[in-house]
Amino acid sequence: MENKSTPNFEHRAVMMNEVLNVVDRIPSGIFVDATLGGGSHSEEILKRRLDLELIAIDRDYSALEAARQKLQKFSGRVRFFHEPFSSLEKIFAGEDILHISGFLFDLGVSSPQLDNAERGFSYRFDGPLDMRMDTRQQKTASYLLNNLEESDLKGIIERNSDERFAARIATFIVKNRPIKNTLEFAELIKKAIPAAARRRGGHPAKRTFQAIRMEVNHELEELSQGVTTSIDYLKPKGCGIVISYHSGEDRMVKGLFKNVATGGCSCPSKLPCVCGAVIKGKLPHSGVTASKEEIKENRRAKSARLRVLESV
Ligand SMILES: C[S@@+](CC[C@H](N)C(=O)[O-])C[C@H]1O[C@@H](n2cnc3c(N)ncnc32)[C@H](O)[C@@H]1O
Repeated sequence: MENKSTPNFEHRAVMMNEVLNVVDRIPSGIFVDATLGGGSHSEEILKRRLDLELIAIDRDYSALEAARQKLQKFSGRVRFFHEPFSSLEKIFAGEDILHISGFLFDLGVSSPQLDNAERGFSYRFDGPLDMRMDTRQQKTASYLLNNLEESDLKGIIERNSDERFAARIATFIVKNRPIKNTLEFAELIKKAIPAAARRRGGHPAKRTFQAIRMEVNHELEELSQGVTTSIDYLKPKGCGIVISYHSGEDRMVKGLFKNVATGGCSCPSKLPCVCGAVIKGKLPHSGVTASKEEIKENRRAKSARLRVLESV
C-alpha cells in the first residue's frame, strides 16, 4: 500500500549554482528532472528559465507529492510522473516528446528518505529492513538479506561498494539469519569487520548499507538505462547533468558521457579516426566537486561529483 501522507520534506539540494550555470545556457524547450526529490533544483530552474517546461520524475511517492505542492505555482509548466528512470522512453512516447533541452540526475537518496526510520535506509535509526524507494516494489532488503546465497551477498557488497570485508560480512549475515531490523544488521556488520579496520573510513555499516540499497533499487541498471535514453533525446546544444555520490555511479556516468564525446572511437589517439565513429557530444569539463564552503554547510556535498555532457 502506498503511504499517501506527505511529511515535511526537507532536502538541501547539492551544487545548485553549478547546476544553474549549466541550465542557463541550454536552448528553450523541455527539461527533465529525473530525481525530483524535494523539488529544490526544479524550483530554481523553473524560476530562472521561463522558456522551459519540466518533466518531473521520482519513484518515491512521498517525494513526488511534496514536490508537487512546492511547485504548485508553476503547475502549467510541470508534468509529474511517479516512475523510475527506466520508464523515460515510455514517458517521452506518451507525451509526444521528440527532443529535450536538458536533463538532471541528482542520484542517491534524499535526506527525508534517510531520516525516516520506517524506510529502513539508515544504519543510525532502528527500522524495518526495507530500503525501497518505490514502495510498490515487492523486494525489500529483508528479502535479500534473509534469502540470498552467501556468494550472491558477497558479490552484491563487493560490486556496489568498496568494502574490503565483503566476504566476512556475507558469512556473518548467513550465520545470523533471520536478521530483523536495521540496527541489528548494522551491529552485525560491525562485528564482521576487524576492530582495527573499524576505526577508519566512517561508520563501518555505511558501505554495506549502500550496497544493499543499490541492489534493492537496481540503481546501476536504472542509471544506465535512464541516462542512455535521455542522451538519445538531447537536442543540439542541450546539456545533461549528473551528480553522483560514489565511485561506481561516477564511473558509469563518465563512461556513458565519454562514449558520446568520442563516438566510441577506438583508433589510436595520435592517428586520424578511421573507424567511422560519430561524435555527438562534448564534455565541457571533467568531474566537478562542491566548493569548500558548500561542504562545510552540507556534509552530503562532500562526495558529490557533477558531470556535464553537451550535445553537438
Ligand atoms: C538526492 S534526491 C534528489 C533531490 C533533488 N534534486 C532536490 O532538489 O530535492 C534523489 C531522488 O531521486 C529518486 N530516485 C533515485 N533513483 C531513482 C530512479 N531510478 N527513478 C526515479 N527516481 C529515483 C529518489 O527517490 C530521491 O527522491
